[in-house]
Amino acid sequence: MKNILIIGAGDIGYPLALTLSSLFDGSIYVTRNDKSKGFNGLEKTCTCGYDNVKFVKNADVIILAVRPAQLESVLTEIAPYLTEDKVLISIAACKKTELIRSIVGPNVQIARAMPNVGLSFQKSMTFLCFDSKNTNTNFNSASMIFSILGEIEIIPEEMMNAGTIFSGSMPAIMAKLFGSCGKPPRVYLNNGCLETITVIRNILTEITLENGFSNGEEIINQVYDGLYQITTTGGKSFEEVIHDVATPGGCTQAMLTKIDMDEWLRAGLADNYRKIWKEMLQDVIGAGIARLGKM
Ligand SMILES: NC(=O)c1ccc[n+]([C@@H]2O[C@H](COP(=O)([O-])OP(=O)(O)OC[C@H]3O[C@@H](n4cnc5c(N)ncnc54)[C@H](OP(=O)(O)O)[C@@H]3O)[C@@H](O)[C@H]2O)c1
Repeated sequence: MKNILIIGAGDIGYPLALTLSSLFDGSIYVTRNDKSKGFNGLEKTCTCGYDNVKFVKNADVIILAVRPAQLESVLTEIAPYLTEDKVLISIAACKKTELIRSIVGPNVQIARAMPNVGLSFQKSMTFLCFDSKNTNTNFNSASMIFSILGEIEIIPEEMMNAGTIFSGSMPAIMAKLFGSCGKPPRVYLNNGCLETITVIRNILTEITLENGFSNGEEIINQVYDGLYQITTTGGKSFEEVIHDVATPGGCTQAMLTKIDMDEWLRAGLADNYRKIWKEMLQDVIGAGIARLGKM
């Protein structure tokens, strides 16, 4: 595997390209759609452009980092150039392998991955699933790429929607809950509200376990470590993390809207606040998973 193409240079494609280009021993190509927009310095370490087909022809691995609504038109555009030696990895939420396969045909190897913004600090929690119809069962390239960026876990595709919430969306959910303390991340995460953080992490771990992830604690710890790095070393505010993760009109934004902070803070004063918080988060996360299932 020598060349990786990342189609999409947005909130996740950009840091993905930037981080991989400093760690991967090969070439990284990046494309975006809007020719009026540049690549914000990515040109220093990646080969950048606007012509998907030209780069697909030379790529061994193609990572699709476009929005779910943009996926089908990109797949249609590149499908004629996807030979059986190429690996196609979609990180688009909720778009199933069956749909991707129906557009690209029987030969290309398909994987889905769900990383998160922690990848900037090699702290992503990435869930992966592979198409059982792949003719070549060597999945090393997809696993290898995302191992560079943090922890990986291979799961059945039926769990990918839940995986999307516990990986992709989770930094924003944590950022919203931790931000309720009203302190900047560095203060909050280093010495403020430690009890609140611990309770929230424990509740999220329980919910992750209840959704079938037997390593729920490791998953939540990894997402937390990623958020910690982004907001301390990376200097981002909780609001900036939320902005990077929550696409307008997407599932994460819908879940965040459902977390009523007034109710959350009021519940924090009750004796049984832990139980109330858990029920609220179960409700929000359950609705998020159900919403992805219908998209
Ligand atoms: N954000 C996250 O934390 C996160 C985490 C895990 C997975 N994901 C998934 O990753 C995908 C991208 O999310 P995002 O937040 O990065 O969205 P985004 O910020 O809107 O970025 C989308 C990117 O796709 C590019 N694009 C659109 N059509 C294209 C085309 N025909 N050819 C080449 N590039 C094209 C856009 O280019 P222009 O701007 O030039 O139009 C833009 O750079 C989504 O499917 C999402 O489910 C996101």
